[in-house]
Amino acid sequence: MTRRIFSENSILFLEKLEEHLSAELALTQSSYDRLVSAMRYSVLNGGKRVRATLLYLSGQIFSLPEEVLLDYAAALEMIHAYSLIHDDLPAMDDDDMRRGKPANHIVFGEAIAILAGDALLNRAMEILIRRCADGLAARSAAAYFAKASGFSGMVGGQVIDLEAMGKAEESKSEALVLEMIDLKTAALFRVALVLPCILAEVSSDIRLCFEDIAVLLGRSFQFQDDLLDIDADARILGKNTGKDLRDGKFTALAFYGRNKLLELLLSYQEEIQEKLSELRQKGFDCGLLKAFVKKIFARSY
Ligand code: IPE
Ligand code: IPE
Ligand code: MG
Ligand code: MG
Ligand code: MG
Repeated sequence: MTRRIFSENSILFLEKLEEHLSAELALTQSSYDRLVSAMRYSVLNGGKRVRATLLYLSGQIFSLPEEVLLDYAAALEMIHAYSLIHDDLPAMDDDDMRRGKPANHIVFGEAIAILAGDALLNRAMEILIRRCADGLAARSAAAYFAKASGFSGMVGGQVIDLEAMGKAEESKSEALVLEMIDLKTAALFRVALVLPCILAEVSSDIRLCFEDIAVLLGRSFQFQDDLLDIDADARILGKNTGKDLRDGKFTALAFYGRNKLLELLLSYQEEIQEKLSELRQKGFDCGLLKAFVKKIFARSY
């Protein structure tokens, strides 16, 4: 079952991405086949490919070659899939359902799930290092990507998320909830939207504009995720619902409340559209990106 949020021209790219991911995670006849099966289970299982689509659409704005974008999109989806495998582990969110199927550790056991996440991270890094032969811009892109995935990026955000569970309410500030989301979720959205800027060596003001859009979009995406945890039909969402509230998770919804969160979502959406219009005025063709952003804001899973 495909769970993609389609965006006209990106369809062919996403088909190629599935093939590319499968080739990069080829099953070998070896004693560690079970590990590779676990990696493939969580990568080739119908994620929405939001980050890959964003990377492709921003890459297209700068006319970057498709084979380059396929590599970076594959690496990004691998890091994202690894973050989800670990996120579902009993030691983290303890979720047994992901993308409409049993979570990785339910099928393969905790040890293999941990190692599949580790191996996906390293496979992604192999791809980035391979691309470093392209030159200085590719080396900067690899550094940006690695940092955004690590302790000052996605992993750091996950730690804030977990540690907030035991914290006193008064210590949970707006700054903390936004820092958590900017790291655990928006960091990979920054990779998707800023990497093409780095590769195309655009001016710093253009890159900054993409960076701002990425943070606003990443935040919005997590705000929606928090809302969907309450509002969505679990079968359509492909994940268990109601669990954030049951577990007392520190979410944007818990912090702001529904009305304020919906207000923020609306203002972020407007801000993103303004920034995209600015880019358009500067001569960048952001039409498809704009259309895709609109689809993200309308998502129901
Ligand atoms: C889920 O991401 C984790 C969050 C950051 C909210 P997605 O909603 O993009 O998950 P998939 O890849 O489509 O399953
Ligand atoms: C996940 O946030 C963020 C990650 C970096 C994986 P959530 O814990 O809310 O994501 P879901 O709801 O399990 O997909
Ligand atoms: Mg989590
Ligand atoms: Mg979770
Ligand atoms: Mg969630």
